[in-house]
Amino acid sequence: MSISKEAELIGMKRVSDAVAYTLKQMKNHARPGMSTQQLDEFGAGILKDFGAHSVPFMTYKFPGWTCISVGHEFCHGIPSSKRILKDGDLINIDVSAELNGFWSDNGASFVVGEDKNGHQQLVDASRQILQQAISQIKGGVKISAIGHLIETEAKKRGLKVIKNLSGHGIGRRLHEAPDAIPNYKDRFILDRFKKHSVVAIETFIATQSSYAVTLKDGWTMVGNKGGYMAQHEHTILVTDTAPIILTEKNELWN
Ligand code: CO
Ligand code: CO
Repeated sequence: MSISKEAELIGMKRVSDAVAYTLKQMKNHARPGMSTQQLDEFGAGILKDFGAHSVPFMTYKFPGWTCISVGHEFCHGIPSSKRILKDGDLINIDVSAELNGFWSDNGASFVVGEDKNGHQQLVDASRQILQQAISQIKGGVKISAIGHLIETEAKKRGLKVIKNLSGHGIGRRLHEAPDAIPNYKDRFILDRFKKHSVVAIETFIATQSSYAVTLKDGWTMVGNKGGYMAQHEHTILVTDTAPIILTEKNELWN
């Protein structure tokens, strides 16, 4: 969406606070021995307190309030009572919600407990690259230039990007124009970021795969060549200068 009124900015800030605070609290709450369903229910309670509605559940009939992906799962992992978090697991939580007709989206990968399996480097790379990408976005910047930056930074670290997952416009729906903000230089995308527009910027940084494929459960995505993936996501408002990070309350940079 493009923000033209104060009321729209307030609406976007409210829903963004809800998803960002929920993500931060879920991240702090996750610990070894807990099931991903328990973690999801904890997050659902926070969203409800804000009066916010889970987008995966309400719009996509996803069997959970948030997406929780563990280990080799890349995204859209289904919360389950059978999935018990272990020390050193790589985990991704993605929280998106609607509140009073406004939609916001954010996500983070992190290591549960102690980094026994050496995932921290991948997590740090994804977070740093998101920060670099967002710092370069302003009205007039080519969408493909940001994709180029993300891919270049990933390669520098010996990592890959997932080509069939991308950021997106957001605001009045979860996905709106621009339809795709890829993590690589797509020369067919000629559009530029527009001042006053709201977009979700997300990294998909992987160790081995370049594509994500859906498992038989119809939801969970893993890599076409296996390995791990880290994602970090903010919903931002594009301006003439540095973007306003609407989901800053998730404290991704801390
Ligand atoms: Co998103
Ligand atoms: Co998301």
